[in-house]
Amino acid sequence: MRTPNTPSSTTPSGDHGVVVVGGGLVGRVTAWRAAQRGLDVTLVEPDPAGARAASTVAAGMLTPATEAVFGEEPLMELGIRSAGMYADFVAELEEASGVGVGHRATGTLLVAFDRDDLAVLTELHGLQQRLGVAAERLTSRECRRLEPMLAPSVRGGVLAPDDHSVDPRRLLRALVTAGERAGVTEVAARVDEVLSSGPEGARLGVRLSDGRVLPADQAVLAAGCWGDRIGVPAPVVPPLRPVKGQLLRARVPDGEPPIVNRTVRGLVRGFPTYLVPRADGEVVIGATQEELGHDTALTAGGLWQVLRDARELVPGVSELEITETCVGLRPGSPDNEPLLGPTRIPGLHLAAGHFRHGVLLAPVTGEVMARALTTGDLPEYARRFSADRGAGTTWK
Ligand code: GLY
Repeated sequence: MRTPNTPSSTTPSGDHGVVVVGGGLVGRVTAWRAAQRGLDVTLVEPDPAGARAASTVAAGMLTPATEAVFGEEPLMELGIRSAGMYADFVAELEEASGVGVGHRATGTLLVAFDRDDLAVLTELHGLQQRLGVAAERLTSRECRRLEPMLAPSVRGGVLAPDDHSVDPRRLLRALVTAGERAGVTEVAARVDEVLSSGPEGARLGVRLSDGRVLPADQAVLAAGCWGDRIGVPAPVVPPLRPVKGQLLRARVPDGEPPIVNRTVRGLVRGFPTYLVPRADGEVVIGATQEELGHDTALTAGGLWQVLRDARELVPGVSELEITETCVGLRPGSPDNEPLLGPTRIPGLHLAAGHFRHGVLLAPVTGEVMARALTTGDLPEYARRFSADRGAGTTWK
């Protein structure tokens, strides 16, 4: 058994287990994978229904090719790795939980609305080729052969056959059940602070807003864009930027064919837009990207922008029945890359800053965090994303 409060040690395995703070996809996948490896895991989440958590708002695109961004190549490589893990991850999770997660391996079509959008798409295709992902250039006619409901004015596109989708709400439900079955204990509470020592000689204490302090050998902050509001003994958590996304859920009227057969992403006068179909007829249409702090107001302007752009690409959007409007806050780190693994505070880890890619990065996050919690180390491919990379910079 390790001696509690040993400042230099990073690989724990005392008697007090792991406390995961946050019950979104990132916290849940960390908890499940850690419990599978024999750790004693408690997950603390104030709102198990997660109504406005990024995980329950997200559309569920697994699209490293069609969501590639210049300057974010290492992040895209991590996304490609995670996308490659998805089929096995889903099979294992569905088996462990008995919950289907709506994984659809139907590819993604990225289309351009006007000449300028087509020029951007051409550049992006070059980036996709450099990243080594499957991406085929298509003419306007070829795009419409795949997706007959596209507007004839669409200029052209790229088919990414390996960019798939999943239903994040089902994924979250599956992770809740798989975690329970693997022995994760859940506490419904808000966390105020992580203390540098805990009760019963524990290395850390996790103080809840009702005053209780949970003992922990290790703690993981996985609380999305709220993670930097939790007190810690030293400044190891960089600012986490909430990036608001407004989107809609809709359905094709009964008896009508699907409006799109696969995820359709588009650039419309420079604005990214997407339609993500589900097998049950739901279509998720998104999303704004607004930097307004923790504001979660649904606005007429935001929803109008989402509908306007989607309708430019697929005019039949007008016929859809709107079933839900949603708003969520993506958790952005200072460099838009996730923060994974140990911090300078012994035993305290981050699993944070997944920004637009929390669903895509779930499998790889589970793998990386389980390794960090059992060995104190990150796999070579994930070292760049170390939670401590900002130490000594203006971030912290
Ligand atoms: N990854 C899609 C979004 O953040 O809107």
